[in-house]
Amino acid sequence: MVARDPHRFVNELDQVAIDRLIARLEGRAKNAVFTRLFDKYAEHLAAGESTRVLEVGCGTGATLRALASRRDFSGKAVGVDQSPHFVAAAQKFAGEENLAGRVEFRVGDAHRLDFPDASFDVVFAHTLISHVTDPVEVLREMVRVVRPGGTIAVFDGDYASMTYASPDHELGQRMDAALVTASFNNPRIMRDLPRLMPELGLKLKAAWGDAVVEIGSGSYFRSFVETYAPYIKQAGLAPADLVDTWLAAQLQSMDDGTFFASCTYYTYLTRRE
Ligand SMILES: C[S@@+](CC[C@H](N)C(=O)[O-])C[C@H]1O[C@@H](n2cnc3c(N)ncnc32)[C@H](O)[C@@H]1O
Repeated sequence: MVARDPHRFVNELDQVAIDRLIARLEGRAKNAVFTRLFDKYAEHLAAGESTRVLEVGCGTGATLRALASRRDFSGKAVGVDQSPHFVAAAQKFAGEENLAGRVEFRVGDAHRLDFPDASFDVVFAHTLISHVTDPVEVLREMVRVVRPGGTIAVFDGDYASMTYASPDHELGQRMDAALVTASFNNPRIMRDLPRLMPELGLKLKAAWGDAVVEIGSGSYFRSFVETYAPYIKQAGLAPADLVDTWLAAQLQSMDDGTFFASCTYYTYLTRRE
């Protein structure tokens, strides 16, 4: 067996797994860690009257709906995702939130966007690029569909930095590597962006990193590990009983106040030359 990033291969998952990912994406968007990170760059996406915004890899639309709900957003937002199930969920949630006139969701592949050149003022990818088959191809498409002078924003985790503490350091290292390999196709891609961006015709306007750290208790990292640890077993990256014991110890440490986990996230704001 080999690792199959569940978001990359979402169209091969069964309904139970898809429903779990929908719940994870919606739950994550309500977590204070997540909203803090998005709010730090959302104003750069919302700027300007009638801005045309595209989110590539929008999932259930949680991030795009957060953008469209902002007071400073007066544009039109379009989301594209490869999963028809996620797109249907996104349409349903947008209707429930009375956002249907301001957001639109479509099924599509980030490697071959179905939009003419220069269709948007702003194109962004929020925790997409770590999952795709070919990140450079996706970035190239994002550049193609944004107008010259427009904004491209890329936000994602540097998942190679993700770590859950374990009293057995060797086991901890092994499980960190297994969890990251099972969950992300490109865990180091955010380190490559400063090198790739000039080659793609993008000028860096601003970039920053945020350490997401939970010490004592865990909510953000709880949801993450509960959702993705089963994929370690599926990929055969560690024996099932070892994964179960390690996961139980993580959850126990959250309950008894001794938990530690961290990961660095990066935001890049760029301008198409
Ligand atoms: C972690 S989710 C992020 C969803 C959303 N951006 C958010 O912030 O809630 C990653 C998303 O990327 C989508 N995805 C992965 N590869 C894709 C591709 N080649 N084309 C379009 N969407 C893709 C998955 O279907 C999934 O919805």
